[in-house]
Amino acid sequence: MALDQLSWQGRSFRRMRQSPWARELSRTTRLSVEQFIQPLFAVEGIAGREAIPGLTGTYRDTPDSLLRQIEQDLEAGVRKFLLFGVPGSKKAHGFDFSFTAAQISAIKKRFGQDLFLAVDVCLCSSTDHGQCGILNPEGDHVQNAATVKELARAALEYARAGADCVAPSDMMDGRVRAIRDAVDGAGLERTLLMSYSAKFHSRFYGPFRVAADSAPKGQGSQLKDRATYQIDPGRPKDALLSSLRDAEEGADILMVKPGMPYLDVLQDLSREIPLPWAVYEVSGEFAGVELMAEKGLVNREAAHVEAWTALARAGASMIISYGSRFARDWLERVSS
Ligand code: PBG
Repeated sequence: MALDQLSWQGRSFRRMRQSPWARELSRTTRLSVEQFIQPLFAVEGIAGREAIPGLTGTYRDTPDSLLRQIEQDLEAGVRKFLLFGVPGSKKAHGFDFSFTAAQISAIKKRFGQDLFLAVDVCLCSSTDHGQCGILNPEGDHVQNAATVKELARAALEYARAGADCVAPSDMMDGRVRAIRDAVDGAGLERTLLMSYSAKFHSRFYGPFRVAADSAPKGQGSQLKDRATYQIDPGRPKDALLSSLRDAEEGADILMVKPGMPYLDVLQDLSREIPLPWAVYEVSGEFAGVELMAEKGLVNREAAHVEAWTALARAGASMIISYGSRFARDWLERVSS
């Protein structure tokens, strides 16, 4: 019978909601620790690991504490990671990516194929001004070609060090093709490329910029934010076109970022482009739930699980979340 011929009036929908067993069986969006990616921060030149305001359980790690943390994460069932390297010396150009590369080598030497290591590729933790690329002499513009060249050099160094996946988050034009060419040219055609293809100019990145030491520091006429390269929140078609382009340039995985404020984009784009979709539940989204929980306003675990469910329902097969290392525990504890 056609849907519009059925009369739904008077029908009980509550019968299927009455027990956890019926609810579990009728659910079509299910979460599992397998789909989570945990961000990691490796910071050069700090004496001990440092907590990050708002991001409970995530640290700015030293090379040693990072390996210990990953060991614990593997025990908690987390096998996928996204590494952010934060070098000690900041520059305007001529960057040194060796600190991050050394962390990749150390992680792969210790854990090998027991884990999947994606590495963020951007310049914002390396630049003295905090922008994601190389500035013109006046400091009011990010130069695309010069930046892409450095990004490809970074990605190649990370792939050579053993990264399973390189993930450009800078939003320059043409970086996906440049990175794919550089990595393939070195015989590393098995390295995955995850593009932050639909990355919006968001205010929800606040806690991250403390963690990655990457807030824009521009003064006067210099560039003060990332509006000239990240996508405008009111322009979803830009996200679609950028994602189509990155798919064509060779991205294996596309991404929407942030997550909850952009569920419509995630749903539309993941239906439109049949590649694997990641979503990044960014620092401000995660911290928002943590702060509400601290004030006793929400049940912490249940609120996180509900947010993750929304991200999966909208079309993401993988979720990058600061709560990944708690996912197995929280998913088990939040009752059906
Ligand atoms: C940097 C980068 C950012 C994030 C990941 N890579 C922030 C930014 O654009 O400033 C955000 C992650 C988060 O907020 O959790 N290119």
